[in-house]
Amino acid sequence: MSELGTADVIALTGKYQMGNYTRHPVAFVRGEGARLFDAEGREYLDFLGGIAVTPLGHTHPEVTRAVTVQARNLLHVSNLFHVPVQSEAARLLSKSVFGGKVFFCNSGTEANEAAIKLARKWAADQGKTGVHEFVVLEGSFHGRTYGGLSATGQPRFHKGFEPMLPGFVMVPFGDIAALDDALTEKTCAFLVEPIQGESGVRMHPPGYLKEAERLCRQKGILLVVDEIQTGLGRTGAMLASERFGLLPDVVTLAKGLANGLPLGAVVARDEVAAAFGPGSHGSTFGGNPVCCAAAKVVLETLRSPGFLEEVVRNGDILRNGLSELAAGRTDVRKVRGLGLMLAMEMEVETKEIANRCLQNGLVVNATSGNVLRFLPPLIVNTGEIRHALELLDSSLPAEGRK
Ligand SMILES: Cc1ncc(COP(=O)(O)O)c(C=O)c1O
Repeated sequence: MSELGTADVIALTGKYQMGNYTRHPVAFVRGEGARLFDAEGREYLDFLGGIAVTPLGHTHPEVTRAVTVQARNLLHVSNLFHVPVQSEAARLLSKSVFGGKVFFCNSGTEANEAAIKLARKWAADQGKTGVHEFVVLEGSFHGRTYGGLSATGQPRFHKGFEPMLPGFVMVPFGDIAALDDALTEKTCAFLVEPIQGESGVRMHPPGYLKEAERLCRQKGILLVVDEIQTGLGRTGAMLASERFGLLPDVVTLAKGLANGLPLGAVVARDEVAAAFGPGSHGSTFGGNPVCCAAAKVVLETLRSPGFLEEVVRNGDILRNGLSELAAGRTDVRKVRGLGLMLAMEMEVETKEIANRCLQNGLVVNATSGNVLRFLPPLIVNTGEIRHALELLDSSLPAEGRK
């Protein structure tokens, strides 16, 4: 483990790394379950989970074992060859969702890039000329590479990086008539997050997603669901799509898939997946054996009896706790979310509140100006939830109490 103290790490970061992240003045060196420890030996409850990345918590013994065994055997092999652990992870992933075929990459934005290419290629393969547009929503977040960024409906992420790629049509959030108008003979896919994560755990109006699905089917347009944040157990189902009764043509995944190792995936139903023939797309590192070994443990654990039910149960406990807290305050607008993807929208800016939480030993995220977001590991227990609620209570501004 590094011998550096926090101040040394901060100085090193500033000197040798680009300044693209706004970092808290904390350096974590160890994790265990839902707990993190910093370079000064302080303990924290992790209710951010690497931004929805560590479903099984930190240093899960079976993940560590699987990764270690794989690292001893083979760290990397080219996708010019078959990779046994990758095939096994793909089988498990396909069985865990709606079937279909898998393409592995390394991150969320890469998964969306692949899905964008796949949808255009699918349209082209059917001889549909000029069918290349994506309809996307205001407030969405789909990643930082040019495809994902162009699909992202938040101008603040575009600023200074214009022009965005052509072919992305933005429609207002929650407006089904606007969506209907935007889905034209030029559209190849509607790309949507089941719950908008980065813009503050925003839920679509009831029935919106089902109606969007119906419109896509009616018009022969692909429904591409970005489950990078909502997927893999986060909302209490393997895909949030299930919770809304959706059957996507394509889903994109990343974040929790390998419990913190870089692995992204696109899963598409067979007929769409066929558009990626030999040479059409690829990735040197995509489906890396070590990451796939971790993904196998994640998927097996999520599929084990009772696991997702426990996520729902703990999600309810956290949600009820947040609602109780909100009832005693004047500065909370709304508690919302699903499973263990929850948020508290406040009347006030939340950046300072998140900073105070951190000082008090609770890691949470401030997003969208006035939202506090909670994305704990899915293995979080009731005691940890209660403790987090106490830490949150003591970190909220005194003047907001009733
Ligand atoms: C819904 C969604 N899509 C895409 C991404 C981009 O993922 P990555 O940071 O792994 O590229 C994120 C990341 O927050 C996300 O929440």
